[in-house]
Amino acid sequence: MTAGLRTRVLSGIQPSGAQVHIGNYLGAMKRFVELAKAGETIFCIVDLHALTSVFEGGKLREYTRSLAAAYLAIGLDPERVTLFRQSDVPEVCELSWYLSCQFPLGLLERAHSFKDAKAKGLQISAGRMYYPILMAADILLYKATHVPVGADQKQHLEMAREIAEKFNRAYGEIFPVPEPLIAEESGVIPGLDGRKMSKSYDNYIGLFEPAKAMRKKVMKIVTDSKELEDVKDPETCNIFALYKHFATLEEQQTLAERYRAGGMGYGHAKQELYEAIEREIAPLRERYESWMTKGEELEGILASGASKARSIAAQTMGEVRSVLGLGAGK
Ligand code: ADP
Ligand code: TRP
Repeated sequence: MTAGLRTRVLSGIQPSGAQVHIGNYLGAMKRFVELAKAGETIFCIVDLHALTSVFEGGKLREYTRSLAAAYLAIGLDPERVTLFRQSDVPEVCELSWYLSCQFPLGLLERAHSFKDAKAKGLQISAGRMYYPILMAADILLYKATHVPVGADQKQHLEMAREIAEKFNRAYGEIFPVPEPLIAEESGVIPGLDGRKMSKSYDNYIGLFEPAKAMRKKVMKIVTDSKELEDVKDPETCNIFALYKHFATLEEQQTLAERYRAGGMGYGHAKQELYEAIEREIAPLRERYESWMTKGEELEGILASGASKARSIAAQTMGEVRSVLGLGAGK
């Protein structure tokens, strides 16, 4: 980040599943908590985006609370971070409309998310197609300068940049052009089958699954069919790819040597992985479970986040409406 410049970091995750997984934790959440220690940060639980895939109100509300509890459990400090639900600040829908009037339709048709859904023959709602505009509105409404996202969101961020530039050219410098902070170093976390860990592939380890269930999943990680005595390669092994994120450097070296020496079965590596994950997650799981019983306190945190977010939103919308020529003007 550029030194000296006022920065405002913003990110969002959809509450679109019962639980976040280890891929979300390592690829996005953990990093956000680190960034949040350094400066002004806003974290938005994007329930309006989740409406493109969650069609039961009760579920959406539960997923939203679970995501908030997950962030608090892994160490997000609500005193320092504006943690809120997107739908509590409805101005984002209004701004989306204004941005959509600037946004070339062709760009939306080129979005990977849209093309993937189309290639799979899925029914695409207008909302799903509109998704990148709503994301741009999230970023611009709060005048974010930096947006940490996974590599899969690169294109969406490009769109947000483009729309900010276009709007500024037409109406004056209203929006900072947001810089992406892409997590290349953590890369894509593999799931049990070696593909990207994802809700949609059902190959994930839930971040707060009970220890026993988590161990069962670890034991299911797909490996090659080498025999116990064979020499093995940690660099191409799905177990080791996860182990790297939970073990110390020394532990990694020790296990890598055992892979290369032969005489170690994958079952052993899985047990080591399970223990390393459990060591890091157990205290977080306890905090998560405790937050899940404190519904009122949780809602209080989201409400106070929404009130901070709303005051930024009101200011931006005042400027935007004025330059667009809406209202009586000054
Ligand atoms: P999913 O693919 O399970 O639906 P999301 O799209 O909701 O996950 O992702 C939420 C955040 O977590 C995004 O910032 C995304 O980049 C990150 N993320 C998701 N899966 C992974 C993964 N396997 N490795 C690294 N980061 C991931
Ligand atoms: N589209 C993002 C995802 O699927 C979620 C998101 C919505 C977001 N609004 C955002 C991320 C604003 C960063 C900033 O992961």
